[in-house]
Amino acid sequence: HNRVFSGVQPTGNLHLGNYLGAVSRWVPLQDQMETIFCVVDLHAITAGFSAAGELASATREVTAAYIAAGIDPKKSIIFNQSQVREHAELAWIFNCVARMGWLNRMTQFKEKAGKNKENASVGLFAYPNLMAADILAYRATHVPVGDDQKQHLELTRDIAAKFNNDFADRITELGIGVPNPTPSPELPENLYFPLTEPMIAGPATRIMSLRDGTKKMSKSDPSDLSRINLTDDADAISKKIKKAKTDPDALPTETGGLEGRPEADNLVGIYAALTGVSKQDVLKEYGGQQFSAFKPALSDLAVEKLSPMTDEMRRLTDDPTEIDAVLKSGSERASEIAEPVLKDVRQIIGFLDVH
Ligand code: TYM
Repeated sequence: HNRVFSGVQPTGNLHLGNYLGAVSRWVPLQDQMETIFCVVDLHAITAGFSAAGELASATREVTAAYIAAGIDPKKSIIFNQSQVREHAELAWIFNCVARMGWLNRMTQFKEKAGKNKENASVGLFAYPNLMAADILAYRATHVPVGDDQKQHLELTRDIAAKFNNDFADRITELGIGVPNPTPSPELPENLYFPLTEPMIAGPATRIMSLRDGTKKMSKSDPSDLSRINLTDDADAISKKIKKAKTDPDALPTETGGLEGRPEADNLVGIYAALTGVSKQDVLKEYGGQQFSAFKPALSDLAVEKLSPMTDEMRRLTDDPTEIDAVLKSGSERASEIAEPVLKDVRQIIGFLDVH
């Protein structure tokens, strides 16, 4: 059956890109499928260890953002990755499934490691294997993310396919596979791991920096003016939108007219995603108008949509009792799903079980 898994790293501030590209799109899925949302703290340490207490407070902050955005702990499992041992265990097994060549092609590693690859942690290199483990420890079928995770999800499918192929006979013998829903010559009839579908759609799959329409909005951009943080107040939001880079022309009346105008395209995309309409609908209203008219409208809209969330996040983080309780019960529910999967995987591989 269908099961959704997704996650956000607790590193630095959550920004509008994380909200519009990922978290906000998870909310309606809760009523359609089983949903699991993780705060991926094991991924956060691939970039280095932070001062004592920082990882814990960043983990609570992401959890607060999930809840404030409308993720309901009664409908969804919300937990932090380090509390469910199976992620790390399956990641190790996938370290032995994935090939060096596959990981060498990951563009995000190249970006994050920068010039000094020799000094990147081994964890940063193996990062995509842990991500595959997150998803497949729950045999999740759907993963809603922003565009920058596309390559990692292709790798997840490659890992699942290789595992299914390498162990095809064992999986059939043990009778624990499911029939491949889309039979193909490359895959066996019975699959243990599903081939996960990426869900990357809508006007906000790639929100760009407010200072440079060719660069992705990111937590690590040194300029705070480049992004809208979910913790920004109304003044900060309107200041950042006012200072956002634009070109001198009026907005076009058709989306075709946004081509070659990355900053205009980005702001129209943000407006569309915040109201839940298409870019074409936004241009129907604002086409022909100058940025001097569009920016204040965008700013009012962003404040109206984000302020209640920011307030709720502050309420939740002021006293973390509620958040910690959500994460505790979430990790128990997550373990109940992941434990039997790892039990199967150990059997498939053939480890001697002395218990
Ligand atoms: P992370 O923490 O970098 O980002 C969390 C989510 O936000 C999306 N995102 C964006 N979307 C649109 N525009 C942007 N500028 C933008 N920046 C970030 C990301 O695509 C992501 O959906 N590897 C993942 C975390 C992860 C994960 C997983 C996700 C670990 N295990 C399993 C799904 C399933 C990451 O670093 O996301």
